[in-house]
Amino acid sequence: AGPRVVVAGSINMDIVLSAHRHPLPGETISGQRVQFFAGGKGANQAIAAHRLGAAAQLVGRIGDDLFGRDLRNFLVGEGLAFDQIYPSKGASGTALIVVVPTGENTIVVVPGANGQLSAADVEVEIHPDDVLISQLEIPIATVTHFFGRGRSVGARTLLNAAPAQLLPAELLLLIDILIVNETELAILSGRTVQPDSPQSVAAAAQLLQRAIETVVVTLGAHGAVACRGTDLLVVPGRRVQAIDATGAGDCFVGALAARLAAGEALEQALGFANVAASLCVERPGAAGAMPTLGQVQAVLQIK
Ligand code: RIB
Ligand code: NA
Repeated sequence: AGPRVVVAGSINMDIVLSAHRHPLPGETISGQRVQFFAGGKGANQAIAAHRLGAAAQLVGRIGDDLFGRDLRNFLVGEGLAFDQIYPSKGASGTALIVVVPTGENTIVVVPGANGQLSAADVEVEIHPDDVLISQLEIPIATVTHFFGRGRSVGARTLLNAAPAQLLPAELLLLIDILIVNETELAILSGRTVQPDSPQSVAAAAQLLQRAIETVVVTLGAHGAVACRGTDLLVVPGRRVQAIDATGAGDCFVGALAARLAAGEALEQALGFANVAASLCVERPGAAGAMPTLGQVQAVLQIK
């Protein structure tokens, strides 16, 4: 078997409310629509990698509630292996998402079963060629254990530090590529970031490079910036008709991992991931909004 993308992460039911704007604290507003979508950063990233042609594995937990049943049906329907997705008592991870007409969202996520994903759960087979991905919707000790195992066999590790929280030194030392958006970068670096200025982004990203060789910052409509050693790689944004940005960052992460696992160089993999994420923004929902390899290649060819 070839290199795989192994994801340890969250699986959530996304309850998506469409409204003309975000409510203010203490305010009630009327929305237009409610939809239920499969999501969770772990599931989104695994589905992105899988649809983009990678041999993707998802390690996670699902509750024994009705959402759990729906999430299971979705993942099985996608053709994702289910042997490392474990059942938990109680609620599945749930996210309440408000999407406004510009496609921008706000999210409150409650971990549920994801909070029970343990170090023992991530004791899965890892090969030196594998690319490991994790995020921060599962316990950080589990992420650290997973990456420690990856490091010990020489596999590459990608951390999407979302939702942002300060990273323990022990984990920092185990990350090959850190991927954050502009908000997460601001929190982790303690700097304000101007998304339209690659220099401003790089100045903040370099503060995180003391422990990590490569820091990738996704900037939505402004594309992405990557700092690798002393190199600065700037990927311009792609103009799209934004419908729902939910999952776009996850699409970027899953796509990047898929291309790195396929042996592509970082520069090319970043360009590919940027196009894949832009396609995700044009569709409602998260995991179900991930593009296929053919759809990304079609855009790359006409460019
Ligand atoms: O990154 C988007 C995801 O964040 C959503 O699918 C939601 O579940 C939250 O985890
Ligand atoms: Na989307």
